[in-house]
Amino acid sequence: MSTLEERFAAHFGRPPAVLAEAPGRLEILGNHTDYNQGFVLSCAVSCRTRAVLAPAAGKICRLKDFRDGSEKTFSLDDIAAPLHRDWSNYIRGVIFELRKRNVRVGGFDAAILSDVPLSAGMSSSAALETAFCFAFKETFEINLAPEEWARVGQGVENNYLGLHTGLLDQFSSIFGREHALILSDFRTVEVLKTVPLPDDCLIVVVNSMKKHNLVDSEYNVRREDCESAAAKLAKIYPGVRTLRDVSVKQLEDARAALEEREFRRAAHVVGEDDRVLRGCELLCAGDAAGFGRLLWESHESSRVNFENSTAELDILVELSKTIPGGLGARLSGGGFGGISIHLVKRGSADAYAKTIRKAYRERCGVDAEIICCEAGAGASVRKIG
Ligand code: GLA
Repeated sequence: MSTLEERFAAHFGRPPAVLAEAPGRLEILGNHTDYNQGFVLSCAVSCRTRAVLAPAAGKICRLKDFRDGSEKTFSLDDIAAPLHRDWSNYIRGVIFELRKRNVRVGGFDAAILSDVPLSAGMSSSAALETAFCFAFKETFEINLAPEEWARVGQGVENNYLGLHTGLLDQFSSIFGREHALILSDFRTVEVLKTVPLPDDCLIVVVNSMKKHNLVDSEYNVRREDCESAAAKLAKIYPGVRTLRDVSVKQLEDARAALEEREFRRAAHVVGEDDRVLRGCELLCAGDAAGFGRLLWESHESSRVNFENSTAELDILVELSKTIPGGLGARLSGGGFGGISIHLVKRGSADAYAKTIRKAYRERCGVDAEIICCEAGAGASVRKIG
C-alpha cells in the first residue's frame, strides 16, 4: 500500500507540502463536565486522522478522502453556510472560524486518511478539524495559541454546525500525551497534570455499533438543563458561575430549589467532577481497582441521572462486571450510543475482548468493534517534500 503522500501525488499530479496528524480522543472520566467548566480525565489515542495538503492559486479547494474514496470541491467564496450532511463542513467550518479571527487561508488541494472510528464517540470530527487547523497553520503561517486552535475546532461545532459542545474533543486531540492520561481544567483551560495508567492495565474500547448522531440528539438539551440548574443554584450560593462551583453536599442541600430532572442532571455533572479528582488520586496511588469502580459509578449516573445511555451500552457495562480481568466500564463521550470504555488487566485483555464480543452478539445480535487503546501523542504537523 502506498503512503498518503504518494496517493496524493498520484491523485492531484503534484506532491503535498505539509502533513498534519490529529488523534481521536477518549474521555476516560468526566462526562459532560467540560462545558460546565469542570474537570476531565482524557487521552489522545493512537488512531488518528492524517491530512496532506498543498496550497493552490485561486479560490478552489479540492478534498479527497482515501478511506471511502469520496471527493469534495468548494470555493472559498462559498463557505458561509454548512452543506447538508457533508464532511467538508468540518474543513469549511475551520476556514469560517478563522475568518472571524481575521485569518485568511488560500486555495488548496488536500487528502485525508483516518482510522478513527466514525460517529462512535472517539471524536473523529475533532480529529478532522484539528488536522486541518494544523495543516493550515503550517501552510499559511498562522500564529494562534494551541488553546485557541482548540476553540477554532469547537467553534466549527458550536457556530457552524449548531452543536453546543465543550472544548474536550479538540483540546484532547491537541494536548494529548503519549502513554499518559491528561487531567484538564475547563475553567482555566489547561492541562493540570498527566496521570499514569497502571502498567498492567489497558483501556479496551467496545463499540456498541449503535451510532449516535450528536447533532440530532439531546446533547444541547442536556446542556440547557445544566445551565438552568446552575442559574438556580447561583441564587442560593453567591459566587456559583457553573456547576463546577457546586459541591456534592451543596447540591444535596439545595435539592428542593431544583426541578427533579434538573437535580439529576446536576448530580451527574457534580458527581463526575468529584469522581475525576478522586480518580486521579487513586491512579496516582496505583489503585486501578478503585479507579475502575468509579467508572462503573459514572456509568450508573449516566444511566439514571443524565439519561445519556442506551440499552446496548448498559448491556456492555453489565457484562464488564462478569468477565475476568474487567475492573470497570462506562459509556464515553456524548452518549446516546457509540462506545463504552473498559479498564482491563493487560494479561486478560484478549480473552476479555473475545468473551464480551460473543456475549454481546448473543444479547444484541450485533458484532461489537473492539479496539485496545494506548494513549497517543497530540496533534502535529510538518513540512514534507
Ligand atoms: C462530546 C462533546 C464534548 C463533551 C462530551 C461529553 O464529546 O463534544 O465537548 O461534552 O461529549 O463529556
